[in-house]
Amino acid sequence: MKVNGIDYQTVWMKGTSVFFIEQNLLPFQFSIREAKTCSDSCHAIRTMMVRGAGAIGALAGFAMAQAALESPEQDYHSFLQKARIVIESTRPTARNLFYAVEKVHTAALISAAGAVSAAQQVACRDAGDSRKIGEFGNALILDGMNIETHCNAGWLAFVDYGTALSPIYLAHQLGKKIFVYADETRPRSQGARLTAWELKQAGVPHTIIPDNAGAWLMSLGKIDMVIVGADRIAANGDTANKIGTLEKAIAAKEYGIPFYVAAPTSTFDIHCPDGTHIPIEERSEDEVLYQDGITIDGRHERILVCSPGSSALNPAFDVTPAKLITGIITEKGIVKPGIESINHLLTITP
Ligand code: MRU
Repeated sequence: MKVNGIDYQTVWMKGTSVFFIEQNLLPFQFSIREAKTCSDSCHAIRTMMVRGAGAIGALAGFAMAQAALESPEQDYHSFLQKARIVIESTRPTARNLFYAVEKVHTAALISAAGAVSAAQQVACRDAGDSRKIGEFGNALILDGMNIETHCNAGWLAFVDYGTALSPIYLAHQLGKKIFVYADETRPRSQGARLTAWELKQAGVPHTIIPDNAGAWLMSLGKIDMVIVGADRIAANGDTANKIGTLEKAIAAKEYGIPFYVAAPTSTFDIHCPDGTHIPIEERSEDEVLYQDGITIDGRHERILVCSPGSSALNPAFDVTPAKLITGIITEKGIVKPGIESINHLLTITP
């Protein structure tokens, strides 16, 4: 995707280093960081400098490749195994992270060079799948539609293109007149900060709405469709996504609005029979209690926005039951969630 006219991907590997866009600084500062070691890459995932299912999957794959390059010859396999455990402990919910680590670790057992090329393939596939999701999803978007999205499932959340936003970018490029309502997505405000920034860069008409405004706008007939991303999709189609997604799905059902999930098949976890088995990350209460941003005179500040001394609960994801999902847009086509349809989808070679 282009930033100020220059093409970027969210994360890439060159030599033994991984380079990435520092998402915690956006939208105020656009900056590229370098992770020189596997440990640096793990730190970037843990602290959400790189976030979003596909992007952390790609970075985790690169981290595994870095571990293979760092591994001493005499201790190669046990070093790799230890590194894998560390990488997999960075963030628990997004399936793409485990998918990428598995693939790159398997290649690393043969050679470090193989690990690097497997990691490059995972990243390349992530971008390609996202582009195809855009093509399938675009077919659902009619001229004049108003679309709500939650969190950030744009190109920053993947290597390129994104999932929920990929159909929106394509529809816009094809000249369809569309309008996007971006949920702010507290506590980290990925919608207000990242989705809004991406849409602005791409020239897509949009506005940011408070998290609690969606149902009201739906009741007024102002939303024609909801498209969200996914962090993990269970075998029956139950979908974990950023906290607050479930509420949008319930409201969409009430008002008869189609609710789509957009995700590559690398987000599906057939070993999770249903949503109750998806691990849900709980993050620090500080993300709820404090907010950071820019003052009018341009200083970056972090301030307390809650009653001093109160605690906060911060589950990072929720699970939307399959019955509330109209369809899942993947790189292989659009499926109605359910065990048979998902099993069939996963057997298709694109
Ligand atoms: O905690 P994050 O920002 O890594 O969460 C991931 C997300 O951005 C969302 O849940 C998104 O909608 C799906 S991942 C593309």
